[in-house]
Amino acid sequence: MSTTAERLRRELATALTATGALNDPSWRRAVETVPRELFLGAAVYRGPGWTPVLRDRTPGEKWLEMAYTDETWVTQVNGIPAEVATKPVLGDPTSSSTMPSLVVKMLERAGIGHGDTVLEIGTGTGYSTALMCERLGDDKVTSVEYDEHAAARAREALRFAGYAPTLVVGDGLAGYQKNAEYDRLIATCSVRYIPAAWMFQVREGGTITAPLSGWMTGSALAHLTLFDDGTAGGRFLADDVSFMFARPHARPPRSSYLIGVGEERDSAIDPGLLDDWTGLFVAQLGAPSAEKLEVGDDVVLLDVATGSQATTRRSPGGGWTVRQHGPLRLWDAVENAILTWQEAGCPHQSGFGLTVTREAQRVWLGDSDGPSWNLPA
Ligand SMILES: C[S@@+](CC[C@H](N)C(=O)[O-])C[C@H]1O[C@@H](n2cnc3c(N)ncnc32)[C@H](O)[C@@H]1O
Repeated sequence: MSTTAERLRRELATALTATGALNDPSWRRAVETVPRELFLGAAVYRGPGWTPVLRDRTPGEKWLEMAYTDETWVTQVNGIPAEVATKPVLGDPTSSSTMPSLVVKMLERAGIGHGDTVLEIGTGTGYSTALMCERLGDDKVTSVEYDEHAAARAREALRFAGYAPTLVVGDGLAGYQKNAEYDRLIATCSVRYIPAAWMFQVREGGTITAPLSGWMTGSALAHLTLFDDGTAGGRFLADDVSFMFARPHARPPRSSYLIGVGEERDSAIDPGLLDDWTGLFVAQLGAPSAEKLEVGDDVVLLDVATGSQATTRRSPGGGWTVRQHGPLRLWDAVENAILTWQEAGCPHQSGFGLTVTREAQRVWLGDSDGPSWNLPA
C-alpha cells in the first residue's frame, strides 16, 4: 500500500505533466521518487508578509500537502531562516524551494540528460539537486550554495534522502573548477551577465542555462552553447521565469530620489510599456544600471552610482512628460531601446539572443547582426 507522500508525489507529477511543465518520463520518475517534504526542513515562510510556518505546529497531512502543491516555499528572508523567525519578517526572500513546475521546466529546458555532468548554481533547499542525483547519479552532480546556513540545511536533507552530490559552499559565480568540465551549467539564481568562470568550466558544445536579470527586475532565461573559439551564444527561451539574484549581483541599497529636478520634455513612449514582461526587459537593456520605482502612476528610474534619475509624469492634456537629471540620460536610453523593440513589432524575449565573448556580452534582437545592447559585464 502506498503512503500519503507517495500518492501526493504521483499526483504532483500528473499535474505537472498535464500543464506541460513535465514531459520527460525520466524526470517524471525523479519527481515521483524525491521526497520534497524533507527539503522544506523544519519551517517555511508564507507570504505576503513572510510569516513562519513551523512543521511541528502543522498537522502531518497538511505539511505533506504543502510540500506537494506546485508552490515556491521561501525558507529564508533577508538571511533569516524560517525556523528561527519568531514573528513575520519584512524583506526579500534570500533562499527557497522553487515551485516544482519551474524546477522541472528548467531541467528539461537545460537539456540535461543521461550521462551529463551538471554544475548547479544555487543549491537552496537541495530539492532540484536531489532530482538531478536521482536521474543522473550522485557523481554527476555538483551544486554550489552561497549561504552557509542554506548549504548546511540542504546537505542534511540530501543526506537524509540518500543522495551524495558534490556540495560546495561559496560563490557560484566562480563555478567549481575542481569538477570541471561540465556538460551543463544551470543557475537557479539570476545573474546580470554571464560570469567568466562559467565560460571556462563548461565543455565545448556544453550549455549554460541561466536567468538573466537586472536591477529593474526584468528577466529572461538564457540558453547558451559554448563554441570552440571560447565564445558562447544562444537565444532566450519562451518561458517567463524570474529568480532571486545571485548575491554578488543583487542591486545596491536604494537611495532617495529628488522631486522636480532635471530637464523636462515630452516622452515618446508610454511608461506603462515597462509593465509588460518583455517591455521591462528591453528597458533594462537600455539602462542596465538603473533601478525602477513606481510612485503612483509615475515611473522613477534611479542610478545609484551616478545619482542620475528620470521621472515620468502624465500630462494633463494626454501623453507623458519626463524629467531627467544627472550625467546619465536614463529615459533617453530606455526610450531608444523601447522604440527599437516597437519597430521590430514588440517580439517576446524569445526573439532576442545573447552572444558572450571575452570582450563583451551583447543581447541582440532578431539575429546576431540585429540591434544590440551590451550587458554591464
Ligand atoms: C531560488 S533558490 C534555489 C532553489 C533550489 N534550486 C531548490 O530547488 O530548492 C536560490 C539560491 O541561490 C543561492 N545563491 C544566491 N547567490 C548565489 C551565488 N552567488 N552562488 C551560489 N548560490 C547563490 C541563494 O542563497 C538561494 O539559496
